[in-house]
Amino acid sequence: MSIPHSKTALITGANSGLGKATAHALADAGWRVGLVARDAARGASALAGIQTATGNPDVHLFVADLANQSAVRGLAQQVLERFASLQLLVNNAGTACPARRLSPDGIEYTLAVNHLAPFLLTRLLLPRLTSSAPARIVNVGTRIDTAMDFSDLNWERRPYRMMAAYGQSKLGNLHLTFELARRLQGSGVTVNAVFPGIFTSHLGGTDGAQGWFWTLVARLLGWALPAPEQAARRVLFAATAEEMAGVNGQYLGNRKPIQAPAQALDAEANRQLWERSEKLTGEF
Ligand SMILES: NC(=O)c1ccc[n+]([C@@H]2O[C@H](COP(=O)([O-])OP(=O)(O)OC[C@H]3O[C@@H](n4cnc5c(N)ncnc54)[C@H](OP(=O)(O)O)[C@@H]3O)[C@@H](O)[C@H]2O)c1
Repeated sequence: MSIPHSKTALITGANSGLGKATAHALADAGWRVGLVARDAARGASALAGIQTATGNPDVHLFVADLANQSAVRGLAQQVLERFASLQLLVNNAGTACPARRLSPDGIEYTLAVNHLAPFLLTRLLLPRLTSSAPARIVNVGTRIDTAMDFSDLNWERRPYRMMAAYGQSKLGNLHLTFELARRLQGSGVTVNAVFPGIFTSHLGGTDGAQGWFWTLVARLLGWALPAPEQAARRVLFAATAEEMAGVNGQYLGNRKPIQAPAQALDAEANRQLWERSEKLTGEF
């Protein structure tokens, strides 16, 4: 049975790192929280940890591999069935792959997880967010000055490079934010992107990147980097702060707007990626 609630949030990649820290803080503040994890055991462990530490039993687990579009559709269906209202969606899950690989839908894996999954999930949940307005969407971006190669979104013609693929997929989060913000004007739903800073991470660990790149970064910088809980403050500001009520289409760093890469400020590029993403994710 679906139950309405005045404060319901769904957070992807909520079993670790930034997503878990954000979910924990929201549960602690009394929100009903949906955790999305791809692995049932890791998700259950995060769920139990958050419920025990916060004393909030209203925390729920959804298991879905976001690389797989049919799983994203199944996830959205479950969320719509279980949550009669939804005031916050945090698109946080992310990965980096050391070598090019394809998702079950034949799409370069990083693009599939980091850009197309939030695109599809957001669109599928939009009617529920709109009917629950005021509602917010927060997309977790990163700060890499790059440009999307629209002629080769799938990395078929260029040598694959992990950080370039990661950067482009995360740039997709900004294109999505700005185009969606334009489309959402006056709907009562806002969307903003947040750069959470650089913090300790297992990013890509499950997908194999931890093997060398992130392990090296973690060893060299890990002791000096902030914890995910600190980075979560930026996400929580965009997600819950009174000052952010009605604020739409911003790219925020530490509570303040920051400069987006030039291409993400190009309305035509935003529209183009939106249309390409529609084609890559199918009909609605
Ligand atoms: N760490 C940084 O310095 C930094 C800087 C800028 C932006 N960010 C962004 O912050 C976000 C969170 O990263 P993090 O550093 O907290 O890393 P993290 O601890 O590895 O969290 C990433 C989360 O995404 C999940 N995920 C990955 N692939 C998935 C898939 N196919 N289906 C479902 N879930 C999947 C992971 O699940 P598993 O546990 O199953 O792998 C994990 O829960 C990412 O969007 C990242 O791009 C991070």
